[in-house]
Amino acid sequence: MQVAKIGIVGAGQMGNGIAHVCSLAGYDVVMSDISEDALAKAMSLIDKNMSRQVSRGKISDAEKDGALGRITTTTDLAQVGPSDLIIEAATERETVKQAIFEDLGPHLLPHTILTSNTSSISITRLASRTDRPEKFMGFHFMNPVPVMQLVELIRGIATDEETFRACKEVVDRLGKTSATAEDFPAFIVNRILMPMINEAVYTLYEGVGSVRSIDESMKLGANHPMGPLELADFIGLDTCLAIMNVLHDGLADTKYRPCPLLTKYVEAGWLGRKTQRGFYDYR
Ligand code: CAA
Repeated sequence: MQVAKIGIVGAGQMGNGIAHVCSLAGYDVVMSDISEDALAKAMSLIDKNMSRQVSRGKISDAEKDGALGRITTTTDLAQVGPSDLIIEAATERETVKQAIFEDLGPHLLPHTILTSNTSSISITRLASRTDRPEKFMGFHFMNPVPVMQLVELIRGIATDEETFRACKEVVDRLGKTSATAEDFPAFIVNRILMPMINEAVYTLYEGVGSVRSIDESMKLGANHPMGPLELADFIGLDTCLAIMNVLHDGLADTKYRPCPLLTKYVEAGWLGRKTQRGFYDYR
């Protein structure tokens, strides 16, 4: 099956990055969100990020213009339905994702492949609520999407080979590398990364080090490009907490207990860069 048109649900930091790379790879993209305002912000961010690539000689002006011309935006999910492949990149809440797949249902083509960019939620469970579990997969990009090389591909229990192959071909055409993960809580990257971030929050909570000393230690001592607390702010503390809860509930092991300080920050609305305040103050 040949994918030509990709529907993206959600224009947030993941959704707009996915639209960016898919349009640059030559796919027609229809990106949706619940508000025109979110779509306008996403388009201006894509424009800005592509301009940065032009100024660094990574892409030409013509490639940028061509890619932007391949993206259409809509607040109407019905217009996303008739795509060859749909990538849902809405907020990391299962009820929200389920509602989106239900709403898309009547508008899909018979061959439409449904995927979710979820970072932790069961693909098998999301698929079971649709009319096509065999055409459903996890398609997990890393942030920032235009820069990070990896895409995790996660098969649900019913995913068929044709669906897997079509998704793998898309990853190849994006110039990215896929890793196949089995459908267990948080898959591979977040199964390993989030407990590390959570442990960094415990390290702060227990007074072992300050925000800056924890981040400096991991940058200079382990060669990480960002310290774990800076990275948590970048990902979003609400997303980090949601993933820890999926690990804790799904694997029923206290080693995944979210740090109370992480919970407190989220309850305060200190979600990291997106709210201008997290472990660092961006105001
Ligand atoms: N779009 C396009 N290009 C971008 C970009 C974007 N959004 N953000 C950065 N870049 C480019 C820059 O233009 C720059 O390009 P050149 O190499 O050509 O100069 C390059 O990326 C590096 O950027 P900067 O110089 O601005 O900054 P930096 O060197 O500090 O790197 C970073 C920034 C790439 C984000 C780096 O700090 C990094 O790799 N951080 C770790 C990111 C990470 O771990 N991501 C995974 C998060 S986990 C996840 O996503 C899974 C999940 O489900 C939660």
